Amino acid sequence: MSTGLPTTRAPLADALPSAAPPVMIEGSGLSKVYGLPERRGAQLLGGGREAVTAAGGTLAVHDVDFTVGRGELFVVMGLSGSGKSTLLRMVNRLVEPTSGTLRIDGAEVTGMDADALRELRNRRISMVFQHFALFPHRSVRENAAYGLRIRGVTAKERLARADAALHQVGLGNHGDARPHALSGGMRQRVGLARALATDADILLMDEPFSALDPLIKRNMQDLLLELQAEHRRTVVFVTHDLNEAMRIGSRIMVMKDGAVVQCGTGPEIVSAPADDYVSDFVSDVDRSRVLTASAVMRPALLTAHVGEAPADVLERLANAEATGVFIVDDDGLLLGAARDQDLADALRDGEPDLTGRVGDAYRTVRPDQPLADFLHLAGQGIVPVAVVDTAGRLLGVAPKAAILSALAQPRRISRAHA
Ligand SMILES: Nc1ncnc2c1ncn2[C@@H]1O[C@H](COP(=O)(O)OP(=O)(O)O)[C@@H](O)[C@H]1O
Ligand SMILES: [Mg+2]
Repeated sequence: MSTGLPTTRAPLADALPSAAPPVMIEGSGLSKVYGLPERRGAQLLGGGREAVTAAGGTLAVHDVDFTVGRGELFVVMGLSGSGKSTLLRMVNRLVEPTSGTLRIDGAEVTGMDADALRELRNRRISMVFQHFALFPHRSVRENAAYGLRIRGVTAKERLARADAALHQVGLGNHGDARPHALSGGMRQRVGLARALATDADILLMDEPFSALDPLIKRNMQDLLLELQAEHRRTVVFVTHDLNEAMRIGSRIMVMKDGAVVQCGTGPEIVSAPADDYVSDFVSDVDRSRVLTASAVMRPALLTAHVGEAPADVLERLANAEATGVFIVDDDGLLLGAARDQDLADALRDGEPDLTGRVGDAYRTVRPDQPLADFLHLAGQGIVPVAVVDTAGRLLGVAPKAAILSALAQPRRISRAHA
């Protein structure tokens, strides 16, 4: 499917980092009632959980809106029973929504007839589960090729594609093995290979790594991120593990009792949890690894142009009660830093500008670097840690106080009314 060529995007979208990708999956007003006839369930939705429960049904998902961008790795997170699996299965209508609409690539899935739906499931969507069945008497290769059978691919091509997928997940040498010869982690890789072999551009993953040991789980997450960097599928990934969500998700939607309580990037959720339920999840997270320099960045207050006179810059330092200043050129490129003493020396020696006083007593980070990378540097030098882009332009600074503030998680005063 992927040509390997850069996709055509409007130049403007590249210029604006926040420009959202085109929508691939869009759910609106999605609800699911289990245990009641469809029409009865739909009638009771207006009365909410109480009405549904009173009638003997279960309101598993209630009025959920969400969109997933093309190429996004979208995570749905929540405690067991919060409706994650139900929501995921409504995407390809393995679970029929009681109400609401779902669109994929603009086409309304909720209105599709059986043929169109089969086509969608066979060609565009693959699923990976926590527990999935491998055929014990078939080879790993045949197991990985399984998803292609129903897609009308020739036997020869099936096995070739299965081999390619096994190679992608690091099982290239195990095609001839039987499943029982593999460890749990390797078997889970076969499940992933099975999904990848299909070339589907949408992956629905329901706690695929939840049963794995922590180390193997991490490896699988890394593998998924690597594959994702290469192929940019649209992934909806369900987990109850916020650390996992933070590691892999471009955005995270937190669900509770069938409803969405918060949706945002990992740093957004960690810095401002919407309620106590989200706070409880967030309390287990290592904030220094989730929050990045961009989350603590402030405008650089003390910068000087390299052509300025030392006396002027010293005056600014005096007024700001600061001891050092960043020096930039005409293009905003960060050249270095000067301390007050350097400027005073330049003034004494009659130097016209700062050219001779560009020092290297400063440290730089990229906006997407986690705080953990540079925590130890904060408050060390004459200037704050500098945040620079790939070209070396000064974007802002990461002051120690901003870092400390972001890392400090306020204790909750009372949960009495939760
Ligand atoms: N097939 C089903 N029939 C009846 N109730 C169900 C069914 N599947 C899930 N439920 C109920 O719906 C709610 C949400 O379940 P689920 O979507 O599996 O949540 P999660 O994946 O977050 O654990 C739970 O209360 C669960 O018991
Ligand atoms: Mg589930």
